[in-house]
Amino acid sequence: MSHDTVLSRETRTVVSPSNVVVGAGAVEEVGDYASLYGTTALLVATERIFDVHGDVVLETLDEQGIETVVYTDVRPDPTVENIEEAYESWEEHDCDIVVTLGGGSSIDTGKGVGILAGNGGEIRDFGVDKAGYEGVPNPTPPLLAVNTTAGTGSEATRSVVVSDESTATKFLIVSKNVVPDVAIEDPELTVSLPRSHTAFTGIDALTHAIEAYVSVNSYGIPDGFAVEAMRRIARSLPVAWADGENLDARADMLVGQLQAGQAFTNSSVALVHGLARPLGAQLHIPHGLANALILPYVADFSAMAAPEKYATVARILGAADEDDDTRTAADRAADGILRLCDDLDLTGYLDDFGEVPAREEYLDVIEEMTQDAIDSGSPANNPRKPTAEEIRELYVEIYDDALAPDGRRRS
Ligand SMILES: [Fe+2]
Repeated sequence: MSHDTVLSRETRTVVSPSNVVVGAGAVEEVGDYASLYGTTALLVATERIFDVHGDVVLETLDEQGIETVVYTDVRPDPTVENIEEAYESWEEHDCDIVVTLGGGSSIDTGKGVGILAGNGGEIRDFGVDKAGYEGVPNPTPPLLAVNTTAGTGSEATRSVVVSDESTATKFLIVSKNVVPDVAIEDPELTVSLPRSHTAFTGIDALTHAIEAYVSVNSYGIPDGFAVEAMRRIARSLPVAWADGENLDARADMLVGQLQAGQAFTNSSVALVHGLARPLGAQLHIPHGLANALILPYVADFSAMAAPEKYATVARILGAADEDDDTRTAADRAADGILRLCDDLDLTGYLDDFGEVPAREEYLDVIEEMTQDAIDSGSPANNPRKPTAEEIRELYVEIYDDALAPDGRRRS
């Protein structure tokens, strides 16, 4: 019999949205849930998503007598200004519920509005660098997150990522006070997600699951979410990517990414996310693509420190089977990830979504990227904690193998 040794030594708090409404047609229930919480909704979305799905959400709110004010200027990486502008609408119209429509960007903007509504002040002051973890002291208003990607898992998490254009950096807010009250997970809303973003957001979710699972902060409850998330993503991401209208695969991905969010928000992310933020900023690539480029190399680097867990990852990804011993299976986790990334043609997206600098230019910024990665705190959660020199080496390996136009993964 095995025991959860973490829980026998310390206390943990598991957070989760209070209600998760899953399945085709779930979006029809937005109005019902909103009416439980208030009378005037601020609907937060990007313009693109609002154009596609706005009417159905407005209709269900209207049917329940909810007045709705719409804010659709959310940017793909939401900014301080987005949150301030949306909060102005909230105040001006006396709103009492936040409804977000979209993926992580809309949800994070909605969480930001809630922080200001419940706490006052400036959003920048709630960043973990200034206020620490659990840095939002007061409860936030009810938040209903209608998800359209699979995904960031932000509808299940206590984190908010905000871009600060004044310093060209991003900052993180972490508090259980921002976890949404209702997550609406309707696979029909993800059918319109383009193939590229199905790949990016899907690998982001896989990265959340793997990192939460191998993290030094992992324990039994989030591990259960992580394993189930990996299973769903491994079997359904290639199907959803190849055939975006396959509702079974889209539904499986929605649940998988939700569980991946529940895993990392109750455990943590680790080295991949630590490296991905600086790399993404340098190459101007989507977050999920940055994760996809890094994940196999970090798995290779880390497998020796958590062999049982990486063996499970390899088996779930079909790169090893039960007959392989633990070390052999663990060493194959990176192969399983690489194969999945190849199936989704991930490095091929670099040409359309990134600006890869020349090698010398890249080497010039490695020192800065390394420092940023360490400062994020995420590398310290990795089962094999890297030195600064090892982070530099990983960045060089990733460039030569995956980023360079004649790199092995791209040729
Ligand atoms: Fe992520």
